[in-house]
Amino acid sequence: MEKIIKYDCQFMSAEKVGSFGFKKQELAKLGKKLATINKKIEKLKNNPDLSFRKLPYDNLLVNLLGKLNVILKKNFKNLVIVGIGASDLGARAIIRTLAGRYNNQLKTKGLNIYFAGNTTDPRVLDDLLKILDLKKTAFFIVSRSGSTIEPMVSFLYFRKKVIGAVGQKKAQKHFIISTLPNKNPLSDIAQKEGYLNLAHYPGGGRYSVLSANGLLSAMACGFDIKKLLAGARVIDKISKSNNLKVNSPFIFAALQYLAYKKRKQNISVLMPYNYYLNEFAFWFRQLWAESLGKERLGITPIAALGPTDQHSQLQLYIEGPHDKIITFIIAEKYKHDLSVPKTNNKEMAYLGGHSFNQILKIEHKATSVSLMKSQRPNGTIYLPELNEYYLGQLFFFFEMAAVYLGELLGINVFNQPGVEHSKKYMYGLLGRKGFEKEAREIKKFL
Ligand code: PA5
Repeated sequence: MEKIIKYDCQFMSAEKVGSFGFKKQELAKLGKKLATINKKIEKLKNNPDLSFRKLPYDNLLVNLLGKLNVILKKNFKNLVIVGIGASDLGARAIIRTLAGRYNNQLKTKGLNIYFAGNTTDPRVLDDLLKILDLKKTAFFIVSRSGSTIEPMVSFLYFRKKVIGAVGQKKAQKHFIISTLPNKNPLSDIAQKEGYLNLAHYPGGGRYSVLSANGLLSAMACGFDIKKLLAGARVIDKISKSNNLKVNSPFIFAALQYLAYKKRKQNISVLMPYNYYLNEFAFWFRQLWAESLGKERLGITPIAALGPTDQHSQLQLYIEGPHDKIITFIIAEKYKHDLSVPKTNNKEMAYLGGHSFNQILKIEHKATSVSLMKSQRPNGTIYLPELNEYYLGQLFFFFEMAAVYLGELLGINVFNQPGVEHSKKYMYGLLGRKGFEKEAREIKKFL
């Protein structure tokens, strides 16, 4: 039988943390809404916003990416993903979780993966260009709108450099695009210059990690994207259940909702203990912030990391205001392990012989229990292992939880009007046609 990630919420309950935790009857009451919400979501299944639920079943895309990967491997050594926000964070989370930090130095198969386009700080681009052999480098430009300033200026800069290095004609093969196929500045350039446009999936960026946006680099780096998608399908299946005992994404959403609405706990910390899930926490942070922070509502997401933040944040979490709920993530089985060497030092001898993995688990348990003892609600997501399959589950778990939480709060989780506002001011200030009104407006304050 296929294993499923487990959400352990016992330390979120009133039984364990008193008045700061949820009551069973509150959860049961919310659970009564699940069938109606699932029915509504099912009805909207052909709405582009919800098309992320179709991504785990997209075999055509898997085949296309497979072919593309062969070409990439034959011609290039490096792949640079150029994007910002959702067009960057999902791919980063996959690569960091599965490949670690030193992958480009350590690996033997697949391409070296780099990320750019999420800043206009020129040093980052400059440094990257110093280490890349452009003749051996492909670029994946991801922008749903095809007009976001940060990735677009990076793209224009890389494009000029690549043309300089290999000539206009050959440069064509160095760029792959993911943008909506309708008219926008990036798709216009792609069409004119003959770049392959994978066509951004119709839904919003935050729910695009299991589209080409996240899968191309995962595959190019040597990971099995079929397993990622198989994992996501498992969570899709349990999300269709109206049984509270089965539908863990709904329970997660319901407990976030109850904490926020009933107990004014408006900060949600995600604290993985496996180090390379740190970028996953950043992906979660954006999902929670942009999906749920609107109409004067919102739960502020914090990306933390265990055990690192035991020595930075934990004091606040344990003795600060009762405004947080914490979610840990830890893999039960972890293929990496080391043993602490024995020592004669009297004070340190107790450490000798322990495995690093065992210590990691002890750190998580000690933190979780001490939080509970201080009446700080916390839960843990246990991954049977840390691999493509369970990572796919994890992404889909949070995507579905965000949708459920949006439904409970009565919020449209798929738009981001606040982000658009500042984008328009930037366009205005930089002289983009059609944004003169915004330019006039912001100039009054400069
Ligand atoms: O989640 C979102 O929609 C945003 O964070 C966008 O991903 C971000 O603004 C980048 O937009 P685009 O993909 O259009 O370049």
